[in-house]
Amino acid sequence: DWTPGNVIAEQVERIRAQVGDARVICGLSGGVDSAVAAALVQRAVGDQLTCVFVDHGLLRLGEPEQVERDFVAATGVNLKVVDARERFLDALAGVTDPEEKRKIIGREFIRVFEVAAREVVAESGAHGEEVRFLVQGTLYPDVVESGGGEGAANIKSHHNVGGLPDDLQFELVEPLRTLFKDEVRAVGLELGLPDAIVWRQPFPGPGLGIRVIGEVTAERLDVLRAADAIAREELTRAGLDRTVWQCPVVLLADVRSVGVQGDGRTYGHPVVLRPVTSEDAMTADWARVPYDVLSRISTRITNEVREINRVTLDVTSKPPGTIEWE
Ligand code: XMP
Repeated sequence: DWTPGNVIAEQVERIRAQVGDARVICGLSGGVDSAVAAALVQRAVGDQLTCVFVDHGLLRLGEPEQVERDFVAATGVNLKVVDARERFLDALAGVTDPEEKRKIIGREFIRVFEVAAREVVAESGAHGEEVRFLVQGTLYPDVVESGGGEGAANIKSHHNVGGLPDDLQFELVEPLRTLFKDEVRAVGLELGLPDAIVWRQPFPGPGLGIRVIGEVTAERLDVLRAADAIAREELTRAGLDRTVWQCPVVLLADVRSVGVQGDGRTYGHPVVLRPVTSEDAMTADWARVPYDVLSRISTRITNEVREINRVTLDVTSKPPGTIEWE
């Protein structure tokens, strides 16, 4: 019988058999997969696991807190948080090309993760033990897409910046390898993870860095974070979280538009709402979000976020448009 409880029992056994009493680390991205994988390993080997969460400053409002507070409260896991916000901003300064942004974010992530992993080793090294295992939230579709082979070489390194420094010399623990996304969610709920983590919509590893069109700066990220939080809040309030696959909010930071706000003329920036429906993100359609919901989002963003004076809607399917703008 497939039940989340049976999956947990079976995986706990397997994980214990695989890692023995060795030390284990896991990179948390805030996403569903790494969170559920970590919670399973925590269930199996408790304090032998340390999770590492790199705050690159490109997350949405409340996401770092969700990991630092809610995830720890639900699992009791050892968590090492690395505040790397300045480092990422410095590395991204002056960069506008989307692929270059992605490469920089991926590269910096791995560097920060490597340092954190060495620190975990040092801190746990009272008995000279090393971290031998890395937890990875690989799902069954990932395994199939990558040819079904074993080992780090087959895993898509682009898939999840939050989870995979694939040139690190660790043996992998992959407790979700036989599961589909909906099964992972069921397991996560059974493990007691909060809805906000289990039902999180897909979010790209490079985060808001690829949703600021133009150079990424701290100020621009703050503006986008505020607009994004409003859009998410209103979509949630309208009960659309599970109908809409995801809804990127994109800041056209190099474009300015004229508006009238309050008493006078403004010269601010437009944002684009990009709500889509999809099965697997390979193809997508623009989501027919009700006009009154769009209207509330637009009114609130332009009222509450001073720098934004125009809200537009992206009505392009994928193909030809990708879900993200960059
Ligand atoms: P696109 O924009 O290619 O996105 O239609 C398809 C899905 O993948 C997400 N996405 C990423 N996820 N690293 C990730 O982990 C990335 O670099 C990346 N780029 C896009 C996107 O949010 C959508 O769900």
